Amino acid sequence: MKKKRILSGMRPTGRLHLGNLHGALENWVALQNEEKYDCFYFVADWHALTSDYSDTEFLREFGKDMIIDWLSVGLDPEKSTLFIQSQIMEHAELFTLLSMITPLSWLERNPTYKEIKTELAEKDLSTFGFLGYPVLQAADIIMYKAYGVPVGVDQLPHVELTREIARRFNYLYKEIFPIPEPLLADVPKLLGIDGRKMSKSYNNSIYISDRGDILRQKVASMFTDPQRMRKSDPGRPEICNVFTFHQIYTAQSDVEEIFEDCRQALIGCVECKKRLAERIIERLKPVHERQDYFRDHPDELQGIIADGNARASLIARMTMKEVRDAIKI
Ligand code: TRP
Ligand code: SF4
Repeated sequence: MKKKRILSGMRPTGRLHLGNLHGALENWVALQNEEKYDCFYFVADWHALTSDYSDTEFLREFGKDMIIDWLSVGLDPEKSTLFIQSQIMEHAELFTLLSMITPLSWLERNPTYKEIKTELAEKDLSTFGFLGYPVLQAADIIMYKAYGVPVGVDQLPHVELTREIARRFNYLYKEIFPIPEPLLADVPKLLGIDGRKMSKSYNNSIYISDRGDILRQKVASMFTDPQRMRKSDPGRPEICNVFTFHQIYTAQSDVEEIFEDCRQALIGCVECKKRLAERIIERLKPVHERQDYFRDHPDELQGIIADGNARASLIARMTMKEVRDAIKI
C-alpha cells in the first residue's frame, strides 16, 4: 500500500510552549503513528525570515532547539522525516516558479497578510518576501505532493491559497500536483497564564522546557474564575483555564473531584494550582530527560537532521525534475 504523505512546518521563533504541544505537536505525533501516513515535518526558517529578517542571531539555534523539542515529545526520526527548509534549495526554485503564476490579487487579499501587517506595525513588513509568504508555503507543501497538511485554523487561508496555486499549475502545465487537504485537529483551548491566547509575544507562556519552581510559579500565577474572590465562594471550573489544564494533565477521577469541589468551594485555587503544577511536572519529566539527552548528544542530533534533509532532498529533486519538464525549462 502506498502511504499518504503528510507535511507541516513551524517557524523557529524560540522555545515551544504547551499550546504548541497540545495544539500541534501531539497531533503530529498521532499522525506519525498511523500506518497509513508518511509524515514530513520541517523547520520553516525561510518563513521566519519573512518577518524577522533583521534579527537572525539565534535562527540556527532556535531551529535545533525546536527539533530537540519535537524529538522530546515523541516525534520519531525513524517514522517521520524531520528536516530544515533552507537546506533543501529546491524549495526556493519552486517558489520562484510558482511566483510567476500567482496573481498578486490572491496575495493582497490574504487575510493573514493584512492582519499580521497591522499587528506587527512596528516592523517594516512592506517586503516582497512577506507578501509572498503563502507562495513559499505552497512550494513547501506541493513539493512533497502532500495529501494532508495538519495546521491550526490560522493557517487555513494559506492552505486554501496552496490549493489554488496547485490547481493553476496543473491547469497551465501538467497535472503533477495533488490538491492538499488541511487537517484540523480537535484541540483543547489552552490560554496563557494571564488568560489571553498563549503566545511568546505576550510573555504569558508555559514552555515545554519549563521545570520545577519556574513551572510552579507560573502555574501559581494563572488566572482563574474572576468571580471567585475568596475560598468560600463557589467557583466555575467550566470557565477556568486552570481546570482546562487539569483536564489534560490530571486523571479523570481526580478531574471530576476537582470539578465538584470547586463548585462547592471545598477546594481553594491555591491548592488546585499546586496539584496542577505537580501533574505537569510529572508529565514533562520524560520530555525533559530526552531534551537533556539530545543537548548532551549534539552529533546524534546532527545525524538525525542530516538524515531527514537527505530524505526530503531526494523527493524534492524528483519533483523538480518533473516540474522543469512540465514547464519545458
Ligand atoms: N506558516 C506556518 C506557520 O506559521 C509554517 C509553515 C511554513 C507551514 N510552511 C508550511 C505549515 C507548510 C504547513 C505547511 O505556522
Ligand atoms: Fe479554577 Fe481550580 Fe480555582 Fe476552581 S479551584 S476556580 S478550577 S483554579
